[in-house]
Amino acid sequence: MFQNKNILITGGTGSFGRALARKLLIENKCNKVIIFSRDEWKQWEMRQSDPIFNHPKIRYFLGDVRDVRRLSRSFNEVNYIVHAAALKQVPTAEYNPSEFVNTNIIGAMNVIDAAIDCKVEKVIALSTDKAVNPINLYGATKLCSDKLFVAGNSYVGAKRQPTFSVVRYGNVSESRGSIIPLWRKMIAEGAASLSITDKRMTRFWISLEQTVDFVCSCFKNMHGGEIFVPKIPSIYIEDLAQAMAPNLPHTYMGIREGEKLHEQMVSLEDARHTMEMKDFYIIMPEIYSHEQSGLKKFLAEGGAVKVPEGFYYASNTNTQWLDVETLRRLVT
Ligand SMILES: NC(=O)c1ccc[n+]([C@@H]2O[C@H](COP(=O)([O-])OP(=O)(O)OC[C@H]3O[C@@H](n4cnc5c(N)ncnc54)[C@H](OP(=O)(O)O)[C@@H]3O)[C@@H](O)[C@H]2O)c1
Repeated sequence: MFQNKNILITGGTGSFGRALARKLLIENKCNKVIIFSRDEWKQWEMRQSDPIFNHPKIRYFLGDVRDVRRLSRSFNEVNYIVHAAALKQVPTAEYNPSEFVNTNIIGAMNVIDAAIDCKVEKVIALSTDKAVNPINLYGATKLCSDKLFVAGNSYVGAKRQPTFSVVRYGNVSESRGSIIPLWRKMIAEGAASLSITDKRMTRFWISLEQTVDFVCSCFKNMHGGEIFVPKIPSIYIEDLAQAMAPNLPHTYMGIREGEKLHEQMVSLEDARHTMEMKDFYIIMPEIYSHEQSGLKKFLAEGGAVKVPEGFYYASNTNTQWLDVETLRRLVT
């Protein structure tokens, strides 16, 4: 897929961006990997963190997704884009809603406009389970972003370029700001207990490497307007605490504002136009603006079936689970 291609990652210094850049540079098939982000210090720190990030094929481009002119400049001769730049801390969003609107929604609009103007071939935007029936502002901005990218396919003209699709997944186990690095630090500093929101709380679980592999596979599978959702296991947050610190007691602080007890990746309403494949679901766009023969062939060859009436994909009703032992092997 990536042979001789120029690939730009917005938010390239983030957890996902680094993992994708590393994979692309190690494979060494593409022509160029462009890291697009705001903070020069994070870009400098990325270069220092691993010799692979000084590869002759990597470029560091300072810019803000709120600035469409800067995006257009960076998209020159780019073939594929992964739009990973976002603000993502739920409590921060509640206090600074306009900042999240500007980055996550206006930024998405700018990426779409610049990608169309620069004749980029394919764009994948990253989404989250928090965008499904959102109850917090972060999730609401990501839902808007998803809708913008799906609708973006209607504005590309007769050449049907770029194609825009979305990849949606749940908690990434070791990403920046996730619970694992936080608990690891607390345990190392001699915490007397681990505090958990609710004994019943469940979450989807995916590793960074899996997100990168899944996104790469979606570049091959996308036809425009789909939301791809990988089939991934669920965990009880309490099991994770047990796996990381078997001897520490737990305290319960209650669900925080803007948090759900369980997450969903395909809602009951989305399910009306969702297809199931072996390893993932595809939420199909409700309005097709494209000739669909390629898509139909892909679905037929992959054995896609429509999900049954009443289906939804939620972390508490999932059929795949990770138990304490498995989690211990993964996190210690
Ligand atoms: N981590 C998860 O558990 C998870 C789960 C589901 C979906 N996602 C989605 O996956 C994507 C990547 O997440 P991540 O964990 O890699 O995030 P991250 O580690 O926080 O990285 C975010 C990146 O975005 C950049 N950025 C932020 N605002 C920007 C702006 N205005 N213009 C340009 N760049 C900007 C940041 O760099 P600067 O600050 O230097 O600009 C950084 O490179 C996000 O869209 C997120 O919503 C994440």
